[in-house]
Amino acid sequence: MWSLYEKLAKPALFALDPETAHDAAVLASKTSWAFRLPALVMRALCAAPQRPARVAGLDFPNPVGLAAGFDKDCECYPFLESLGFGFLELGTVTLRPQPGNPKPRLFRLPEKGALLNRMGFNNRGALAAAENLRRLGRRRAPLGVNIGKNADCPLDQARDNYLEALKVLYPYGDYFAVNISSPNTKQLRELHRPEYLEPLLDALLGFAASRPEKKPVFIKLAPDLSPAETEACARLIAGRGAGIIVSNTTVSREGLERRWEHEAGGLSGSPLREMARTSLKAALEGAAGAPVIASGGIMEPEEAAWRLRAGAALVQVYTGLVYGGPFFVKSILEHLAGKEAADA
Ligand SMILES: Cc1cc2nc3c(=O)[nH]c(=O)nc-3n(C[C@H](O)[C@H](O)[C@H](O)COP(=O)(O)O)c2cc1C
Repeated sequence: MWSLYEKLAKPALFALDPETAHDAAVLASKTSWAFRLPALVMRALCAAPQRPARVAGLDFPNPVGLAAGFDKDCECYPFLESLGFGFLELGTVTLRPQPGNPKPRLFRLPEKGALLNRMGFNNRGALAAAENLRRLGRRRAPLGVNIGKNADCPLDQARDNYLEALKVLYPYGDYFAVNISSPNTKQLRELHRPEYLEPLLDALLGFAASRPEKKPVFIKLAPDLSPAETEACARLIAGRGAGIIVSNTTVSREGLERRWEHEAGGLSGSPLREMARTSLKAALEGAAGAPVIASGGIMEPEEAAWRLRAGAALVQVYTGLVYGGPFFVKSILEHLAGKEAADA
């Protein structure tokens, strides 16, 4: 099956422009779920040893999740779950719909095992996402809903923009990720500064605390902060009772050909690995026991194992799935099970 994917499906997908390939994958996922049978077949093919984890009061069948950005409108996650994910983070969803940046805005760097994107939170908005989530319902694996700021919303109104999106989506997520770290929305990363982050956290966590069901909130950080900055952010976030995701894509172009220096956007995949490791270590220092989810440059099962060993509560993948294909999660879970057996 794996070689069928490598020999047929991957070359066909990689012959398409990257965003068309992504849209085709979303459409195929939606269609597969509508007919159910392909999803059931996929679930059977991707079956792997589970490794339950309890994090932030939620039960995860395994610690390998889908990172945000693949299912931006929360429309194809039931099929994605059949690939073996232990949780799925959907979005980024903004309060109001927005088109995102002009195309082309997604690029492959196959020789580097990387992607570069400047999508800019293209999505149909919180009401449409909520309607999809209501229609498709909860699945076995926990669902995270990642929220972001509308591009036309000034920084001094960001807090209310996030809060309104959270209110619309609150009934449908098991946890919420607050994206303050996409490099593709002007000034978004300013929200790492305490004068913005503190009131934002207070508003979102205050809302969650006021609900009958208190749901966990995670803040997703940028990898381009210094370790001291990451640690300070993590301390502030954990001190208020939220968790941390490290990290989003990087604006660094280190090790890439010169032509990529002039291409705006966030880089993901292999070139991000070392930065994401450094960010994870710094976040764990500041988090003092609060849950930290590792994202960024997990392209092989060994890297997922490394992050979990380093102290991550859970891991997320995106670019690894694009290059590794639908059996990537299974390969990670089998590796984790093999490692555990070897360690025992
Ligand atoms: C095409 C693309 C779109 C993305 N969109 C989002 C997004 O909407 N929100 C978000 O928080 N992260 C987004 N990300 C970042 C991923 O969630 C992830 O944190 C990052 O790519 C690093 O992980 P990776 O190296 O496994 O891809 C996106 C990444 C890619 C490649």
